[in-house]
Amino acid sequence: MKAVCWHGKHDVRVDTVPDPQVCNSGDAIVKVSLTCICGSDLHLYNGLVPAMKKGDILGHEFVGEIAEVGSGVTRYRVGDRVIVPFPICCGACWYCKHELWALCDNTNPNSWMMEKLYGDTGAGIFGYSHLYGGYSGGQAEYVRVPFADVGLEKIPDGIPDEQMVLLTDVFPTGYQAAYYCDINPGDTVAVWGCGPVGLFAMKSALLLGAERVIGIDRFPERLEMAHVQCRAEVLNYEEVNVAQELQNMTGGRGPDSCIDAVGTGIEGAYDSVKQALRLESDRCSALRQLIKACRKGGTVSVPGVYSGFVDKMPMGALFAKGLTLKTGQTHVHKYLPHLVKLVQDQQIDPAFIITHRMALSDAPHGYRIFRDKQDSCIKIVMKPQGA
Ligand SMILES: NC(=O)c1ccc[n+]([C@@H]2O[C@H](COP(=O)([O-])OP(=O)(O)OC[C@H]3O[C@@H](n4cnc5c(N)ncnc54)[C@H](O)[C@@H]3O)[C@@H](O)[C@H]2O)c1
Ligand SMILES: [Zn+2]
Ligand SMILES: [Zn+2]
Repeated sequence: MKAVCWHGKHDVRVDTVPDPQVCNSGDAIVKVSLTCICGSDLHLYNGLVPAMKKGDILGHEFVGEIAEVGSGVTRYRVGDRVIVPFPICCGACWYCKHELWALCDNTNPNSWMMEKLYGDTGAGIFGYSHLYGGYSGGQAEYVRVPFADVGLEKIPDGIPDEQMVLLTDVFPTGYQAAYYCDINPGDTVAVWGCGPVGLFAMKSALLLGAERVIGIDRFPERLEMAHVQCRAEVLNYEEVNVAQELQNMTGGRGPDSCIDAVGTGIEGAYDSVKQALRLESDRCSALRQLIKACRKGGTVSVPGVYSGFVDKMPMGALFAKGLTLKTGQTHVHKYLPHLVKLVQDQQIDPAFIITHRMALSDAPHGYRIFRDKQDSCIKIVMKPQGA
């Protein structure tokens, strides 16, 4: 089959690789009908995530049709259309039982690596380095999905792939980011980063009752999408003093909640130098701004991915202002039934975010334009079949 494989920094190729096979009785093989490139894939593309190997198959956002099931799979049959959440979950451990799905204890066969780094492990993730289990990803014609009975969600009849594929990660991630803000009616939520995660965080904040959302970025087309699609007031951080503007817009108090949908994004010079000298492995200028801007007693919610140590972290401000900090991988399974229902009820059409449609064979081009934000690229979906 054809699959998008990582070969090194800024080097992805569409290779011919062996078809996946059922290894355990709980496995399903999914024939991928649509897959996306995610902001998280850029961390791999940019060589920022350790434990990648040449030939690793990328992709953790995909939907498709069941092509084969192991003898232990009871909930799904060949031909069912399914959503595949990006974390792989056993359904039986303490974390899965408590709906902390992305922290599943049993699905990362390389848990020792993460334990060495962080003292504990999270769930395995499709196509996201050996640190997260070394699972083959969904930017491919077929994928092996372990724990199929736990992991998959059926696609209701008549709902197109383009809407459902966004429920594998970015919509639930934006939703969790907003959910973590404990929004009260009348709240103002500011979101750093108007990429897919930030845009869904704004949409979700409104769904959860926020009165105002403010989007911060530097790309005009992203700011425009935030304004038009998410009713956001927008700030271009290259043109205005964000901290000052946020104060002005909120009567001097600051937003009730601040969401970091950037992660290891574009950094300040100081941070880049430290990164170059390997004095710290993350860059967090946006995060520092969030903590500074948030109103006293508010919430700082961080869906953006961080992966190492962060210094100049204003712990004193976090304490003095009594802020709540919430972060982590998304517990996709927890939100899926509700979000599928919102789409079915036409309360949201998540496909608003898709700007580019291409064949899987165009993936190298897709990664380039998504990284460089060329051609007003916000979200790319790729069709593996017939590519
Ligand atoms: N927690 C999770 O489970 C989870 C899931 C998916 C994605 N993510 C992470 O969420 C983040 C966003 O993902 P995405 O797909 O939207 O990525 P993206 O790269 O498309 O968007 C990031 C946006 O942030 C903007 N940005 C950069 N620096 C900024 C700054 N200082 N202030 C304001 N905006 C700034 C960029 O211009 C860009 O538009 C990434 O770090 C990604 O890894 C986390
Ligand atoms: Zn993703
Ligand atoms: Zn589990």
